[in-house]
Amino acid sequence: MFKKAAIVYCSPGGTTRHVAQVIEKQLENAGISVLTADLGKGNDGSFVIDEVKKGETCLFIGSPVYVNHPLPPVQQFISNLSEITNVCTVPFVTWGGATSGIALYDMGKALTDKGFSLIGAGKILALHSMMQQSENPLGSGHPDKEDDNLIQDLVNSVLKKMAEEAPEAIALSDLAYQPEKVHAEMEKMTLETARGHLPKKEINEALCTECRVCSETCPVQAITLSPYPEFGKNCICCFQCMRACPEGAIEADLSPMEDRIKGKAKQFDEHPLTQIFV
Ligand SMILES: Cc1cc2nc3c(=O)[nH]c(=O)nc-3n(C[C@H](O)[C@H](O)[C@H](O)COP(=O)(O)O)c2cc1C
Repeated sequence: MFKKAAIVYCSPGGTTRHVAQVIEKQLENAGISVLTADLGKGNDGSFVIDEVKKGETCLFIGSPVYVNHPLPPVQQFISNLSEITNVCTVPFVTWGGATSGIALYDMGKALTDKGFSLIGAGKILALHSMMQQSENPLGSGHPDKEDDNLIQDLVNSVLKKMAEEAPEAIALSDLAYQPEKVHAEMEKMTLETARGHLPKKEINEALCTECRVCSETCPVQAITLSPYPEFGKNCICCFQCMRACPEGAIEADLSPMEDRIKGKAKQFDEHPLTQIFV
């Protein structure tokens, strides 16, 4: 029997947060008490770990897909989890229509390696956060009502399992849905290896007022001002600083990414777009 739930997620652009909120509402409607943590800006989710340690908890963990994988703060959160008994887990990812990569598998593997059981999982199509300025962005309009309905179906199935003495687990192999060869290639392609190919950010010092909005917005605290913004090695290239800057002082040309991202979508032609594993 699992009487409580926790939802931990990272969401630079807000879409994964939307999914977390749909999950939270559905759980609360069923009378389950929910603890939520938005990783980033210094929050490593340790207060959730303390609560989860008490047992009888179903832990939902969400991440956007960044270059095939989950974001570092989510990977770090999972690796900080000690082996806790009487906890079951539900990983979920949002992806931008290029490829959901192996992010869900990565999370599932890290969790099962720690001895947690997986009782559900989901991948949800979303607006591609690198294409917000594009005329015709991938994932436009998603998550939509149908996506939200599927998320609710996932939660309903999890709720049923939570009421059981020994909830039936899903198999990790269900989350290895990419063809074997593609999966092996995606293992090698990460945010780190792709970093050099992502658009460079430049600071227009004439416009910058050193207001700190960029550093306050950064989900991974990668920006220091000395006196102008400088980006640390842990920058995840979410470009939220650029979007938040009130002066438009952070500049990057994201337009060359458009064809590359659309090329990937064509190459992988991934279906179904939103999928739950129950
Ligand atoms: C640097 C970067 C890398 C991304 N890599 C992928 C990817 O490999 N595949 C994909 O479909 N979407 C990719 N996306 C899009 C995000 O996964 C998608 O927009 C996600 O919903 C963003 O979640 P958020 O709004 O919670 O930040 C990437 C976005 C960024 C900024």
